[in-house]
Amino acid sequence: MYNDDPHNTLYDALHRPLRDLRISVIDRCNFRCTYCMPETENNHYSFLKSQEWLSFAEIVRLTGLFVSLGVTKIRLTGGEPLLRPNLFELISSLRAIGSIKDLALTTNGSLLVQHARALREAGLNRVTVSLDTLDARTFHQMNGRKGSLQRVLEGIACCEELHFDSLKINVVLQRGVNDRQILDLVQYFKGRQAILRFIEYMDVGNCNHWDMRYVVKTREVIDLIHAHFPLRPLEAKALGEVAMRYAFEDGSGEIGFIASVTQPFCGTCTRARISTEGKLYTCLFASEGTDLRTPLREGLSDLELSRLIRRIWGQRTDRYSEQRSHLRSQPHLAPKVEMFQVGG
Ligand code: GTP
Ligand code: 5AD
Ligand code: SF4
Ligand code: SF4
Repeated sequence: MYNDDPHNTLYDALHRPLRDLRISVIDRCNFRCTYCMPETENNHYSFLKSQEWLSFAEIVRLTGLFVSLGVTKIRLTGGEPLLRPNLFELISSLRAIGSIKDLALTTNGSLLVQHARALREAGLNRVTVSLDTLDARTFHQMNGRKGSLQRVLEGIACCEELHFDSLKINVVLQRGVNDRQILDLVQYFKGRQAILRFIEYMDVGNCNHWDMRYVVKTREVIDLIHAHFPLRPLEAKALGEVAMRYAFEDGSGEIGFIASVTQPFCGTCTRARISTEGKLYTCLFASEGTDLRTPLREGLSDLELSRLIRRIWGQRTDRYSEQRSHLRSQPHLAPKVEMFQVGG
């Protein structure tokens, strides 16, 4: 089925290899995006204490084990990962592990101006910035009136100067909120280093009051953009790529679309996630994770930890996005992990 099969590839029960590891380094965030951590629910958030976070040494040890099991892509997420003190030290240590092709970071961009250079020098090679609009009012409406749009744009410009191997801008679209700004975003980023990607709004977590009516379907977005800036589809570069990539016909770069609701990609999902407190999740929509921190702190050997990870991945059957309508129609949908606990 897959031809990139080095000897150490670990497959799940649906024959999907383990390739990517996404690590949430902190569950806190300085934004309150309505689709992730809406302010109105603020009273219910109980963030972890710093002693509960996996330490850098623990993250590095676990990452080494995942790499030995076939992982080649690491993404650091949050919450807002740049709130984790001295993140660049973690990046240097992760860089020292061989066989990692990609070391990426997903950030809201608000602290990039201060940190981008140190991150780059420590060995970070890819950055993804979440930015949903170029309109200051909508920016504040969508992120709980936090931070400054200008500062995020400056952070993106800093990353461009530092020439990361890839720089992407993630836009979550919500009907009636930021869908009128699609063309402005395209115009702004077209021809620049940063690649824009439009994401369908998802029912992650339990507090964003998701409804299919708010989802702007990727087909609609592509048609709109194509009518103004002609596009042509590009071949997928790698197995498990979540974005459908298109090139602008005029040669001014590419753009991506993540149709996680209307065209789910569970069939090629190669991603494992570790929460800030060290739980392993095999799906963004999972209810339960497996605690790896306790065995780590109790002194399990590398071999024993690897066995545990192998067992969990080997049993994996998750495909929430493909089963969304069926699962959501069940009378008792178990609470899901929150996006800020496991990252995007
Ligand atoms: P690169 O290919 O390394 O650039 O990363 P990526 O394409 O995985 O992109 P990124 O991590 O920025 O993910 C973009 C968005 O896609 C996330 O913020 C999620 O909204 C969505 N997404 C990513 N992974 C998954 C997944 O496994 N399942 C679902 N349903 N959505 C995902
Ligand atoms: N639907 C789609 N994407 C989301 N993200 C956060 N919440 C959602 C959601 N409900 C994305 C953000 C960011 C990443 C961390 O996850 O845009 O890029
Ligand atoms: Fe923070 Fe990202 Fe969640 Fe927004 S989506 S609240 S920036 S963690
Ligand atoms: Fe992977 Fe779960 Fe997303 Fe499907 S819904 S692509 S299994 S994380």
